[in-house]
Amino acid sequence: MLPKSIWLLFLGSAVYMLYSSDYYFYVKSYVKHYYAEALRLLYDANSSNEIVLENGEILFTSSALEKYTDLDSGGLYLSILGQVFDVTKGEKHYGPGQSYHAFTGRDGSAAFITGDFTESGLTDDVSSLTNKQIQSIMTWLEFYRKTYVYKGKLVGRYYDKNGKPTNERSILEERIQIAKKNDLNEDQEKSKFPPCNVEWNPDSGTRVWCTKNSGGIARNWIGVPRLFYTEPGSKKHRCACVNTNSKDFQENKNMFKTYSGCADNETSCIFKVTT
Ligand code: HEM
Repeated sequence: MLPKSIWLLFLGSAVYMLYSSDYYFYVKSYVKHYYAEALRLLYDANSSNEIVLENGEILFTSSALEKYTDLDSGGLYLSILGQVFDVTKGEKHYGPGQSYHAFTGRDGSAAFITGDFTESGLTDDVSSLTNKQIQSIMTWLEFYRKTYVYKGKLVGRYYDKNGKPTNERSILEERIQIAKKNDLNEDQEKSKFPPCNVEWNPDSGTRVWCTKNSGGIARNWIGVPRLFYTEPGSKKHRCACVNTNSKDFQENKNMFKTYSGCADNETSCIFKVTT
């Protein structure tokens, strides 16, 4: 039988060897890997758990998020497009009994646009909204990023169990890009064909007219009011000030109509009934 001190010497040498060699790094990376796997399994087994990632972000399941509706049970958290924020400091809006309490403990992204705070309205499914409406939800998301504390992600529709964006999240991103592009096109369209000034009088009717600043577009020409049919084949129209000599107008002539009773070169037109 070896004396106790010899065993301790062996043990100490073994630990030293591990520390001073690559073994330590292998062991460390294995431990890290299996630790992460164990956490993942635990997470799968108990869906009400939260996982803290290495970067400090938390992955919430919907049942984990559900409890954050009260200051006594952890605080007030909400999710928007799958991103979770601690909105406790906005207790006057989100606390129990307050106007926007329904947003807490869940992802009710659609209701940020629809204003439908019923159970079915408070859904994270925004697929039936327009691209522009989705873009508006993104503006809310920016608001939460700036105003409140970001906590992590909600596992489900927009993020998978590893916190990576899902296909649905990518589709959302594409739709936002389309909305941005449309905004750009609208801005370009407005600078080419600026909106008219409009006023209404019960006796004389509606007056539309152009100035060098109408529609908030500063320019060195005034233009004449025209009915501008912005979508081919649609009855949708607005009043645009057009420079009839411009190439832009000449190339898009078929999208414009003169106001009935208004001369071609008149900068102000009055009409009683919408043409
Ligand atoms: C789609 C409908 C609406 C949604 C989704 C919505 C959402 C919200 C949210 C989330 C907040 C809290 C913002 C924060 O954290 O500071 C808020 C605040 C507020 N909302 Fe609404 N809201 C809606 C409609 C309205 C309407 C119609 C009114 C007025 C008649 C209104 C008046 C207010 C006011 C006064 C505040 C508090 C502003 C402050 O104290 O800073 N909201 N709204």
